[in-house]
This record gives sequence, C-alpha cells and structure tokens, in this order.
Amino acid sequence: MSTKHKPKFKRIAQLKTAPDFREYLKSIDVNLSFDETLLPPDQTPYKNSFLLKSGRNIGNRFCILPMEGWDGTTDGRPSEYTKRRWKNFAISGAKLLWGCEAVAVRHNGRANPNQLLMDASRLDEYKRLYDDLITQHQEKFGKTDDLVIGLQLTHSGRFCKPNDQKKMEPQILYHHPILNKKFGLPDDYPHMTDDDIDRLVEDFVKAAVLTKKAGYHFVDLKHCHGYLGHEFLSARTREGKYGGSFENRTRFLTSIVAGIRSEAPGLEIGVRFSAFDWIPFVPNEEYVGIPATFQGDYPYAFGGSVTGTGQDLTETYKFLKLLESLNIELVCITAGSPYYNPHIQRPALFPPSDGYQPPEDPLAGVARQLQVTAQIKKDFPGLAIVGSAYSYLQEWLPHVGQHVLNNNMADFIGLGRMVLSYPELPEDILANQHLKRDKVCRTFSDCTTAPRNGMISGCFPLDPFYKALPEAIRLKEIKKE
Ligand SMILES: Cc1cc2nc3c(=O)[nH]c(=O)nc-3n(C[C@H](O)[C@H](O)[C@H](O)COP(=O)(O)O)c2cc1C
Ligand code: SF4
Repeated sequence: MSTKHKPKFKRIAQLKTAPDFREYLKSIDVNLSFDETLLPPDQTPYKNSFLLKSGRNIGNRFCILPMEGWDGTTDGRPSEYTKRRWKNFAISGAKLLWGCEAVAVRHNGRANPNQLLMDASRLDEYKRLYDDLITQHQEKFGKTDDLVIGLQLTHSGRFCKPNDQKKMEPQILYHHPILNKKFGLPDDYPHMTDDDIDRLVEDFVKAAVLTKKAGYHFVDLKHCHGYLGHEFLSARTREGKYGGSFENRTRFLTSIVAGIRSEAPGLEIGVRFSAFDWIPFVPNEEYVGIPATFQGDYPYAFGGSVTGTGQDLTETYKFLKLLESLNIELVCITAGSPYYNPHIQRPALFPPSDGYQPPEDPLAGVARQLQVTAQIKKDFPGLAIVGSAYSYLQEWLPHVGQHVLNNNMADFIGLGRMVLSYPELPEDILANQHLKRDKVCRTFSDCTTAPRNGMISGCFPLDPFYKALPEAIRLKEIKKE
C-alpha cells in the first residue's frame, strides 16, 4: 500500500463494543447517536411499512441508493454485469429501489461510454429489467405489492464522457473558476444554450413517459453530485431564463415536472439532490484534502456557506418547499460531489485514485449528512425522506439506522456501497442476524477507482465474482502505482 493510501484514522472494525464506539466518537468530537441494542424482528423499526400519499405502500425502511457500474453496452443497453447488480438490489430485502442507477436521457449527456441510455428504441430492455426485479423479488420474498421501484434520469453536465473513457466532453451552464481549471476548460468554453436546455427538458419528459410504459413506479430527476441538475441550482452567474434568480435556477426542474404531469400522469416523481455542497478539495503535499484556493466569498455551493466549508440551508429549504408545492413527496438527501469533494459525499477511509486522504475522520462526514437529513425531516415532516452515506458505519450501521428511524430523523435508510459488497444486508438486519463480517464494505473505494481508470465498477476486494475478473489484477497494479 502506498503512503498515499495509508489510512489515517481508527478503523471501525476495531471499535468492538458500544462504549468503544461512543468513546471514539467523543474523542474525535463527532456527534452521532446510536442504539446500543438491536430490537428483535417483531419490534424493529426497519420493518415498518410507509404509505405514500399516492396510496402506494413501501414494505420496509430500507432503500437501495442508485449505483451505476460503468458497465452497459456502448449503445446504452444493460449488460450481464448490470443485470447481476440489479438482481442483487432486488433480492436485498429492501422495499424501495431508488432509481437503481443513473440513466442518461440523451447520448451526449452520458457520464461514460457505458452509461445506460433511455429512449424508445431501448424500451424493451428497460421493461425487461423492471420485470426481472419484480420476478426475482417475488421468488425470494413471496410478494411485490409493497416493492417500489424508480429509475434515475440524468444528464451528466460538466462530467460528460459519452464517447471515450479518456475524453471529457463537458456541457456546462456557467464558468466555474475552480472546476473549469481542474478539468482543463478554457475561459471561453461555450455554455449550453437556453434552446438546447429546452430540448433537454423534452428529452427528460420523453424518457419519463417511457419509464412509465416500462412499468417503473417513479422517476428520479437527479439533482446531485455536480451533474447538470445540480449545477442548475448554483447557476447564479448564468444569464437568461435558466440562471440567476432561484426561480430561474429551478426552471429546469419545474419545466420537466410540468411536462411529466401532462404527458405521464400518475407517474410519481422523486428528487435526489445534494442538500449541501462545499468548495472543491485538492490534495496537499501529504495528499490530504484541503479546500481549493478561492478569493472572497464562495458563491457556487448550493446549500453551502460562503466560507466553502460549511452549510447554509436557506436555499435548500426553498428548494424543499418548491418540491412540496410540486407534490413531490419522495426526496433522497445526499451531498457534494464524488468528483471534487468526495469526503463529504461518500465518506471513506481509503480514497479513490483521483481523490485525497480524508481531512477528517470519515465518521464526521457520515454525521454531517445524518444531521442535515434529520433537520430536514423535522422541518418537512410531510416528505418521504431517504438518507445516504451510512456505509462507512460498517458494524455500527444497524445501530445508527435503528436510532435514526426510532427518532424520526429520516424515513428510509439508504444503502450504497454496502450492498455492492453485502447485498443481503437489509435482509440480515430485518431478521436481527449477526452481520457477515467478511462481506462488510470497508470503504476501499475500488468501486470508484476502477471506473476512474476506464474499467467497470464493482466490489473487487470483497465480491468473489469481481475478485476473479482480470480487472481486479489491473486495479491492484494501478493502486501500487
Ligand atoms: C460505484 C458507485 C456508483 C454510484 N452511482 C450513483 C448513481 O448512479 N447515482 C447516484 O445518485 N449516486 C450514485 N452513487 C452514490 C451512492 O448512491 C451513495 O450516495 C454514496 O455511495 C454514499 O452512500 P454509501 O455510504 O451507502 O455508499 C454511486 C456510488 C458508488 C460507490
Ligand atoms: S470496492 Fe467494495 S469494499 Fe470498497 S468501497 Fe466499494 S463496495 Fe466497499
């Protein structure tokens, strides 16, 4: 292991007892509550169903967060890898599948040449994926009337790479001084035009109509992680009808919602959004992340303070009020971006190859997302709130999740990386089984490092299927370098 990848903080697996965990949290000054004892299956809050206002019932409080695998075909169809991952979601025991993975609505908005793409010519493939989820869940759990499935629709904006793994083809809304520089964009790099955005709105609506036809219960209009939907929210310096005022910056969302309500009535809409963002981080000479240099107040972090490293939820709350007024009940909270501040987005002990050593104990990143989510749930009790960033908790995930549910700090415990390494974790927690320690995600970040180096994603260290692939060897070499 190179020094670049040596962990600097205590490993969760060493915190074996509740007093150990509590003491450690205290020593690093992180405020994170948890239940010491897990409740038996007949009392666990994980088992409670959740009734949406539409009358649709979600059978328990686990949600699988969307996770793409950079593994579709180059013409945007699911591959055998994609189907395997989705099957794992279906048989995990979770009753809410949030989007499954990011699916582009047009070719030039794809995040990589293998990202899934939704259009009429591929409708059958998406229908088959949906049907498979239902069949696999039915076979294992005997019922599906309480399984709710969405599809995440996206345009990757600044992070588009539609044709070549090595060639970014960004579509930007405004000139961002730090990100333009980081990704080599000249100051006169063209912005997306309002006309193009109008056409993109139509593409989203068309994709939503197809999603409904394929059988999915909802579409997620992705507004997170620095991709296009998220970039609109911070497009304060953009001129024209899609930038400047809050109303203009949310016109993209409101236009798509209006289109879906008219063209696909009855289809539910969800929004996954970065409830707060920070300034981009860069590695210092010790490879530890520090905020990028910026003179003056930092204006580009939606939900972030002008310091660049704190929260200001004023506009986040405005956005949530807007969602309520649009009758959008399903909301998934996440933060930041994996491209420029991964430690606030997916806390990890081991950074991905394009990242940096975490500047704080990853537990601080977990606690931050949990606290913001709890605050939102308290102030927006009518929304169905999914929380993210639980995977780093490892053995303590069931304890923290139970506390969150029992104290109404979120409605659903969202699971990302953990289900790549340990797909049946929700089932085991629901049955109050001991966790299978050899399957617990240790946040090695290989599932991010692999795609950053042009390979498919997957849990190479822990999933025997990926361990046996040639990519696992290449990945080890890359990490040595
Ligand atoms: C390999 C990988 C792929 C991901 N793909 C998506 C995606 O397609 N859409 C999305 O909204 N988030 C995506 N995410 C972010 C996760 O949904 C989640 O927010 C993040 O991993 C933090 O949750 P965790 O701590 O449970 O992993 C991805 C994360 C990983 C590791
Ligand atoms: S590669 Fe596996 S262990 Fe590493 S972060 Fe991803 S899911 Fe977790």
